[in-house]
Amino acid sequence: MIYLDSAATTLQKPKSVSAAMLSALRTMASPGRGGHLPAQRAAQTAYACREAACALFGMDDSEQVVFTFNATHALNLAIRSLVKPGDTVLISGYEHNAVSRTLYAMPNVTVKVAHAPLFCPEETAGRFEELLTDEVAVVVCTHVSNVFGYILPIEDIARLCRERGVKLIVDAAQSAGCLPVSMERWGAAFVAMPGHKGLYGPQGTGLLLCANRVEPLMMGGTGSESRLQQMPDFLPDRLEAGTHNIPGIAGLLAGLRFVERVGVERIGSHETDLVDRMAEGLEEIKGVRVFAQNPGAGCQSGVLSFCVDGMDCEEVGQRLSGAGIAVRCGLHCAPLAHKSAGTLECGTVRASVSAFNTRQEIRAFIRAVAALKK
Ligand code: ALA
Repeated sequence: MIYLDSAATTLQKPKSVSAAMLSALRTMASPGRGGHLPAQRAAQTAYACREAACALFGMDDSEQVVFTFNATHALNLAIRSLVKPGDTVLISGYEHNAVSRTLYAMPNVTVKVAHAPLFCPEETAGRFEELLTDEVAVVVCTHVSNVFGYILPIEDIARLCRERGVKLIVDAAQSAGCLPVSMERWGAAFVAMPGHKGLYGPQGTGLLLCANRVEPLMMGGTGSESRLQQMPDFLPDRLEAGTHNIPGIAGLLAGLRFVERVGVERIGSHETDLVDRMAEGLEEIKGVRVFAQNPGAGCQSGVLSFCVDGMDCEEVGQRLSGAGIAVRCGLHCAPLAHKSAGTLECGTVRASVSAFNTRQEIRAFIRAVAALKK
């Protein structure tokens, strides 16, 4: 199978990931819940994973790294910590439902959307500048669109937030592991990310990087301050109630080490190279509409959407699946992105790559799309 759905989750993982998970299942207990060796091994693994995340994201304090179930969980924690009833929140026109549904579910919160055309970073930054007025309390912005691979001008948006003293939450779901991510440089309050995409950990893992006070969504045992009726007020315990997903964390640690070893820049340029080739090949097929940046513009990562004239995108996905190619079709849980790009009615077919895809696979994928039109 040619797997081109890494924006949903990476399927091919480094071998070290499953080996670490199996070893954790066999040898590790619950961290902070006992002084015995299996509990100590688990605590060391959790600590090493936080340290590896710190190293990759240029942070000093591993206690600011909180384990979550996924990026959605991390975003819920961040948004519910910062946004209060009566607040106005500014978001990009490329947010996932993890951001928009969370905000719309909060009482008496006004959401302003900085819609801007696809692959136009200057216009996107301009829209933020225009809409970042005094009443905006919080900005939530995705680094990369999960539908189109559009790299938003996060440095400009972060600078605006710093200048105007507005808290920023960054959704790094599609950028962690393939683009530089730095909470410190951005001056962000929170950065949320999954462990199971570009960090090559298993599903059920995510990270929230915290530079701000946080409110827990779940209460329970933490193995610390057990006499208190309240959750501890220090991180990471404040947000980590209940038994940790230690096999998942062990796998995520192996994934983080893989990314560190190969290098974010190398992974990012490999993925961009594949997507550029994909765009070039698909654009040559009559009746295929490709959503790609202008060559060399530097604002598209390893995700590409396209539509085939006269064919529903679900049908395209099914036929590609029949040819042994895995893509995702529809709205990709991001209706706002489709509204910005003008594809809300039809959705798109999305192909997304990882460090493990090859040029040969991309050539086979292009041939398979061409065959649909015959
Ligand atoms: N947000 C993930 C995707 O884009 C699940 O497919």
